[in-house]
Amino acid sequence: MLSSTELEVLDTPDDRRVDRFVVEAQRAWEAGNSVKAIDGYCQALRLVNRYPPAKRELDKFAKSFFADAISARDAGDTEGAIVLLVRSRELNPDSGEVRDELKRLLASLTPGRDLTTECLAMPDAARASAIYREAIQTCMEFVAYGGISGEIFEFGVLGGWTARIFAETMVDLHYPAELYLFDSFTGLPRDKHALDQASYDVSRGVWDEEMDVSRLGEQIGEKVPKHIGRSLSRVISAERIKIKPGYFSETLQQPLKRKAALVHLDCDLYSSTKEVLDGLDEMQALQDGTVLMFDDWNCHRANPAFGQRRALTEFLEPRSDRYSISSFLRYGFNSAAFILHEKSP
Ligand SMILES: C[S@@+](CC[C@H](N)C(=O)[O-])C[C@H]1O[C@@H](n2cnc3c(N)ncnc32)[C@H](O)[C@@H]1O
Repeated sequence: MLSSTELEVLDTPDDRRVDRFVVEAQRAWEAGNSVKAIDGYCQALRLVNRYPPAKRELDKFAKSFFADAISARDAGDTEGAIVLLVRSRELNPDSGEVRDELKRLLASLTPGRDLTTECLAMPDAARASAIYREAIQTCMEFVAYGGISGEIFEFGVLGGWTARIFAETMVDLHYPAELYLFDSFTGLPRDKHALDQASYDVSRGVWDEEMDVSRLGEQIGEKVPKHIGRSLSRVISAERIKIKPGYFSETLQQPLKRKAALVHLDCDLYSSTKEVLDGLDEMQALQDGTVLMFDDWNCHRANPAFGQRRALTEFLEPRSDRYSISSFLRYGFNSAAFILHEKSP
């Protein structure tokens, strides 16, 4: 059984906002609504990373999920136990016993191909892993420790390799956001914008073949979006994974009603990048402090007339009264991250 305890009510101006979520969570718990209570404590954690009153309460839920997981395991329900352990771990990533039990149960499953562990886009997986893990962690730390409350968006998922790094980092940093994954899963749009056609990397055929993962889906006998969702649900709860298959021009038509804490733009083209930036702005998803990670920043010989550099310039120019950016990170040979600022937040 979970038990509620008295929560300290903090009353300094700086604490007020985060405290509001804790008080609401406490009320929900007292009204018997544990889902809403967990949600409230998680909202508090997004504002103040590892906020002690929220963390303490979440740990009780984590322990309860762990106990249920052990019962499920002992009853022979390994899959059910894994779901509960994932839930427990994301509510308290510091628990060694939960981490070890989850690892043990995952290792006991029949091994099968997992695309999210395969680096499909780069030839040297070990080097790419070191670079991307460091960059993603640094950007996520900025968001988590800076109280930028919002979701994580990725545009350009392929087989889910960077999506997995995001999911793992979200758990490790105890940042309980949702992970939105946008991709056609059939490759780049066939009809290329004239500017993309003229750009160096499109014209020399760099991206001609390798982006259609639907063929991989045929090999593994499962549609790729479903495969990615299933695989990542062993890292964060399935409810937190929102997969949006289709071209961005279609999937960004449906308003998300969410703010972005971090956007990973790994979609190669000028036109795709422009669609993402315009689309997110239209649905008011961008906010002061949103981190924009551009994977393909240095494509096209890093020439600002092409690709993601051109898309960002064209996005910012007509909005110069609203937004500006700071350079944040350069990583690998090709990528850069920026922090978006709102002039009148
Ligand atoms: C380099 S891959 C992404 C790599 C991925 N992040 C990984 O971890 O391996 C680029 C992806 O962007 C997607 N993409 C590019 N433009 C798109 C668009 N306009 N709509 C939907 N998907 C798009 C492609 O389908 C492709 O999967």
